[in-house]
Amino acid sequence: GAQALKYENLVESTTTSPGTLPDPTTLAFGKQFADHMLVCDWSKEEGWAAPVIEPYGDFSLSPSALVLHYGLECFEGMKAFRGVDDRVRLFRPQRNITRLLKSSQRLTLPSFDGDAFLKLLTHLVKKDAAWVPAGRGYSLYIRPTHIATQPILGVGATEQSRLFVINSPVGAYYATGFKPVRLLADPQFVRAWPGGMGDTKCGGNYAPTILPQQHAAERGCQQMLWLFGEDEKVTEVGTMNLFMHWKNDDGVEELITAPLDGTILEGVTRQSIIDLANQWGEFQVSEKYFTMGQLTRALKEGRVYEMFGSGTAATVSPVGEILYREETLSIPLELETSGKLSKRFMDELFAIQFCAWTSDD
Ligand code: COI
Repeated sequence: GAQALKYENLVESTTTSPGTLPDPTTLAFGKQFADHMLVCDWSKEEGWAAPVIEPYGDFSLSPSALVLHYGLECFEGMKAFRGVDDRVRLFRPQRNITRLLKSSQRLTLPSFDGDAFLKLLTHLVKKDAAWVPAGRGYSLYIRPTHIATQPILGVGATEQSRLFVINSPVGAYYATGFKPVRLLADPQFVRAWPGGMGDTKCGGNYAPTILPQQHAAERGCQQMLWLFGEDEKVTEVGTMNLFMHWKNDDGVEELITAPLDGTILEGVTRQSIIDLANQWGEFQVSEKYFTMGQLTRALKEGRVYEMFGSGTAATVSPVGEILYREETLSIPLELETSGKLSKRFMDELFAIQFCAWTSDD
C-alpha cells in the first residue's frame, strides 16, 4: 500500500558551505534563508517517499506542474523564538499544522501524519537553530508549503505533490515597525466571499490582493481594509485578521473581530488574542461582524478606543487612519486612553514567545 509520512525514514544531508545569520537589525522580511530545507514528496502510487533534509536550494519542477498553472498550493506561516533562556521554541505549531492539513484537503492535496510532520519540522529547526535570531521581536519565520507537482495541464486532483519547509530569520514585518498604519477601505475590491476559500491559507488568496494594495499605496495607505457585502462588513486588513476595541451600540465595552464563517482566515494570533482577552475577563469578547456604518457612527460618538491587525508575521499592528469615500477617519491612539490594548497584547504575546515573564507573573 501507499507509504505514510514517517519521521523514522528521514534522510539528512548537511551543507558544506554554511551561511551565517546576518545582523538581525538588517533583516528584511523573508529575504534570507537558513541553511537547510525539508522536502517530502508524495505520489498517488507510492504514497510518501522518505523525507529529506538537505541544503537550501533550487528545485527542479516540470513546466507543466499543476501548481504553476492553476495555483494548486497552500502554505503556512509560523515562528520559532529564541527565549531569554537561549532555548529555541516553536509557537503553537500544532495549530499551523492542523490548518495546513485543512488547506491541503480543500485543495485536494494529499493528507499526511501531522505528528510526523511536526517532528520533521522540529528536526529542521534544531539543525538550523543558529539561524534563530535573539532579541525581542526577532524570530525564525517558518514557511511550510504544499504544492501540486504532477506534470499535467488537465484541471484535476494531482497525483504528485511536494511538501516542503524553508526558514527565514526575520525582524519586524513592516519596515515602519509598531507605527500605526493607514488603510484604504474601498468596496470595489473583495478579498473573500461565502462559498469561496477565504478561510484557506493558499497562494490564490494573496495574489489578487497585490493590485488593490498598490492602489492603496497610491493613496498613501499601507494596506487594504477588506469590506464585504452591501452593508460593508469590516472583515480583515491586508494579510491579517482585524480587531476593534470599542463601546458597542449597546454601550458595552467590547473587543470584536469577524466570525469564522468560512470567509475569514483562522489566525493563530487571532485565537491567541481572543484567549488572552477572555482570560483577562475585563471586557466582552465577540466574534461578530461590524459594518463601516457602525464604525463611522462610533467614531463620531467617540466610542472607538482602538483598532489593530493580528498575524504571525507582524504579531499586532495598530491602525491609525482609514481612507473611506475620500475622507480620512482617524482612529484615536492617545496612549492614555487607547493604543494601550495592542501594546498589551504585543507585550503579553512576546512574554509567552520569549518565555520572558517577570518574577511576579
Ligand atoms: C501573516 O500576517 O502572518 C501573514 O499571513 C503574512 C504572510 C502572508 C507574509
